[in-house]
Amino acid sequence: MRKQIAAANWKMNNTLDEGTKLLNEIVSSDMQVNDNQSVIFAVPFPFLINANQQVSNKSNMFVAAQNCHNKTSGAFTGEVSVDMLASINIHYCVVGHSERREYFSESNQTLAEKVDRCLSKSITPIFCCGEPLAIREDDIQNDYVALQLKESLFHLDGEAIQKVVIAYEPIWAIGTGKTATAAQAQEMHAHIRTVLANQFGDAVAANISILYGGSVKGANANEIFSQPDVDGGLVGGASLIANEFIQIIKALK
Ligand code: 13P
Repeated sequence: MRKQIAAANWKMNNTLDEGTKLLNEIVSSDMQVNDNQSVIFAVPFPFLINANQQVSNKSNMFVAAQNCHNKTSGAFTGEVSVDMLASINIHYCVVGHSERREYFSESNQTLAEKVDRCLSKSITPIFCCGEPLAIREDDIQNDYVALQLKESLFHLDGEAIQKVVIAYEPIWAIGTGKTATAAQAQEMHAHIRTVLANQFGDAVAANISILYGGSVKGANANEIFSQPDVDGGLVGGASLIANEFIQIIKALK
């Protein structure tokens, strides 16, 4: 089902004490998270079990891993499998964040495998796509993002793709304070939905949540989330400040 989603991506930030305090401030605030909405916290691996306990009696709040391995198990020192995530009741996982693509050389093909691993364990992949600045400057971002979707998601059937959340994160807007305008976000989100509709049909595409990521803050969330094809955000820096993230949650449709 297409939900409005505020997803926090803590990246490699916070100690256990800091993260516990931050999460507590957010979950104990007075906001209402409706049934058409979800709030997701993608926290570092060592905090997953604790964070899951902190949201356990909160409706429509969930915890996500930030990554998983593309193989089921084996000699991959330092890696984490979807079986491990499922065994601690984690139901979401960020897949293919641009930082993973860039610093850990994750390819569209590897990400297709990660998506499969997640779905095999009923873990919803939050699949990230988005173009670097040079591609935007050449005005070929639509083709670039379409290829990311095609190579990582088009092997799925119409039922499986509806279990994927897509996050469009233009790399030039991540951590730079430079947000895409609401119009730029809407234009790309509409394009992504059209690409999905051409492959899976209109009804399926209309049912998929597409989040925007890149310098989302309390001050700009309302305008960005109000766009018809923007179903919320994947938030880095501003998700580390309780009041900012609460404001972002309140901006969900
Ligand atoms: P910022 O919100 O810090 O720009 O990060 C976005 C992001 O990468 C979320 O995954």
